[in-house]
Amino acid sequence: MITRLSGKDFITTQDWTREELETALEVAYRLKAEFAIGMPHDHILRAKTLYMLFFEESTRTRNSFETGMTQLGGHAIFLTPKVTQLGHGESIKDTAIVLSRYGHGIAIRDCRKGIGRRHLYEVARWADVPVFSMQDDVDHPCQAMADLMTIQEKFGRNLHGLHFTISWTYAPKYVRPMSVPQALVMLMPRFGMNVTLAHPKGYELMPEVLEIAQRNAEAGGGSLRIVDDMDEAFRDAHVVYPKSWGPLMTTEDPAEVEAMAARYKDWRATAARMALAHRDAIYMHCMPVDRGHEVDDEVIDGPQSVIYDQAENRLHVQKALMALTMGGRL
Ligand code: CP
Repeated sequence: MITRLSGKDFITTQDWTREELETALEVAYRLKAEFAIGMPHDHILRAKTLYMLFFEESTRTRNSFETGMTQLGGHAIFLTPKVTQLGHGESIKDTAIVLSRYGHGIAIRDCRKGIGRRHLYEVARWADVPVFSMQDDVDHPCQAMADLMTIQEKFGRNLHGLHFTISWTYAPKYVRPMSVPQALVMLMPRFGMNVTLAHPKGYELMPEVLEIAQRNAEAGGGSLRIVDDMDEAFRDAHVVYPKSWGPLMTTEDPAEVEAMAARYKDWRATAARMALAHRDAIYMHCMPVDRGHEVDDEVIDGPQSVIYDQAENRLHVQKALMALTMGGRL
């Protein structure tokens, strides 16, 4: 367990060693157990403030961070460009320095392609408080950590040899970023899982992310394979994580995006596909989910689904990350 994490940013899991990530999970388990038995832990970040700057909408991320700060005894402030002077063109440098003079942490969601990740590191450069990613165009590290915790809860702490499948699905409502599948392919092989990534042609992830995932697999004792067949990806998997993302490496033209997706409407999590997976397989989704397109109700509402555990674990993991990095008294 690493005890000297105060002041460390959490922008991508790649910036944390495996031991540091395991420390965060240990603390998350402790805070979850205390939460379950109604034991308050509002001394941990008493009177501390987190600024949450959102460039996009959120249900889970905003509410789990804000609730987490309340439970740790602090306060979180919801910001958007419109309610700050960012909307009038004030620089992110000035914003970062001023906020870090007032409070104890800055969390940002910025998924704009080619901008979000750079923006987060720019804030981290100027802020002298920890900076947390609430999702960018490359990674969604808090989601991936909550997912890792959920998988450990279902299969035990040692995940070596577990077969983890992340598959593209059809979803017509809006174009999702690639950050969740990318976060998963980078993190899960570090914990020894055999990762299968499935998608139709045109939905490739960023090449630099796949290179990191491959290196992580070699170092972590896991593996990475890429297939273009959803059935093949589901076969014998212990964890299936079917979700949509946009063909952002191919096109961002709305008409092309819609036409491409329409060719693959059968990429959906169905009971027949779940039957291909391992007998004890779990179904995961980060939400929001496009029911009836990405997945059938009988799967997402069925006994193999762990989606609400994943959403809950966002709270516990983020509390642990904030407690460890924002000078919490654990
Ligand atoms: N999974 C996730 O990040 O959900 P929100 O977009 O609602 O925050």
